[in-house]
Amino acid sequence: MTTAFFRTHLATRDPLIFDALEAEKKRQQGQIELIASENSVSFASLDALGSVITNKTVEGYPGNRFHGGADFADVVEQAAIDRAKALFGVSYANVQPHSGTQANQAVFFALLQPGDTVLSLDLASGGHLSHGAKPNQSGRWFKIIPYGVHRDTGRIDYDAAEALAIEHQPKLLIAGGSSYPREIDFARMRQIADKVGAIFLVDMAHFAGLVAGGVHPSPVPFADIVTCTTTKTLRGARGGLILSNREDLVKKLQAAVFPGVQGSAHLATIAGKAVALGEALTDEFKVYAANVKANAHLLAETLMARGVAIVSGGTDTHVVLVDVSSKGLSGQQAQDLLYKVDITSNKNPIPFDSAKPSEWKGLRLGSSAGTTRGFGAAEFAAIGTMIADLFDAAQAGETAEVEARIKAEVAALCARFPIYA
Ligand SMILES: Cc1ncc(COP(=O)(O)O)c(C=O)c1O
Repeated sequence: MTTAFFRTHLATRDPLIFDALEAEKKRQQGQIELIASENSVSFASLDALGSVITNKTVEGYPGNRFHGGADFADVVEQAAIDRAKALFGVSYANVQPHSGTQANQAVFFALLQPGDTVLSLDLASGGHLSHGAKPNQSGRWFKIIPYGVHRDTGRIDYDAAEALAIEHQPKLLIAGGSSYPREIDFARMRQIADKVGAIFLVDMAHFAGLVAGGVHPSPVPFADIVTCTTTKTLRGARGGLILSNREDLVKKLQAAVFPGVQGSAHLATIAGKAVALGEALTDEFKVYAANVKANAHLLAETLMARGVAIVSGGTDTHVVLVDVSSKGLSGQQAQDLLYKVDITSNKNPIPFDSAKPSEWKGLRLGSSAGTTRGFGAAEFAAIGTMIADLFDAAQAGETAEVEARIKAEVAALCARFPIYA
């Protein structure tokens, strides 16, 4: 291969991709990111993600690989494992899942047979696709019994979940989801699992960073297995983790990830995860996690003070689930309205919502990315006011002037908080 192959930068070699990536960088700089599952990784994580270890093929686990030349791959993966164990207080960590969905898929593969019964939070109540939604493999291959939330409080109806568990005798009980904004009573869920002899899995994808930062109860003392993504509040490279203190499950979980549902490890991603897990062990991260929670609380309070309904009346996490029907909007309309002024968010179902995305009444907001950028109380209060102003203008049918003003305010705010300088 010519020297050019090893030395030519992307800008010269592939301008189309380079330009798209530069445009994305500008977009991230110029917009307020409120999508609850997004965050910005550190510059150091980006370095790891773009490193030459992507060239290396390894199957198996550190110290027991199917391919030679794995010395440094082992260093990287072992560091990620050790850091995950220290961070979450577990004796077992698998850092290879390519995503949160594949972490869950591996748990299903390790412990269940097709047709087995699973009890999990329903989508409209805040559950996740990979916990048994119809179009997902979990929904196709397993018998899914959904539990939900109380209509009046938006909080999990544990008594109803228990009744369902007794009636259906699930083999697996799952807690956790994508848009449930409240702390989960892990002890109560453990009781339910024990009553029917189910394995208890907590998917802490969304709040893993809050657990790591010590501002959210840990599911580890209660769950048999904990899965999560390394993105979202954990602020790492995109992927999944499986954690456990159940020594008797380790062999099954290891084999389920490789060779069960995955092949070779994605080492650049694992390096990126290792960096983020190291960052999450610092005191600086504890401050970050506390700020994420405080900022979400403030955003919810600001919106509620302006008559915007928040599902469950607030939040214990980074997620603020807005019922935009309180302002006469659909989730899609609200998402579009915010996007016009460079605020990114996503439409979402709220409890007891329509199954049709076009009719969803919810808008999911989150504080993780903004907090990483340095937004504090003043900025989140300002963002809440901007959103409420926009909703009020939309309700009055006169958005043009307000949109123009807020777009300028967003631009000014973003300019004050540069990312990836
Ligand atoms: C609770 C939960 N589990 C799993 C996932 C899946 O993660 P991934 O997109 O990495 O597959 C998500 C992502 O939003 C999630 O919210």
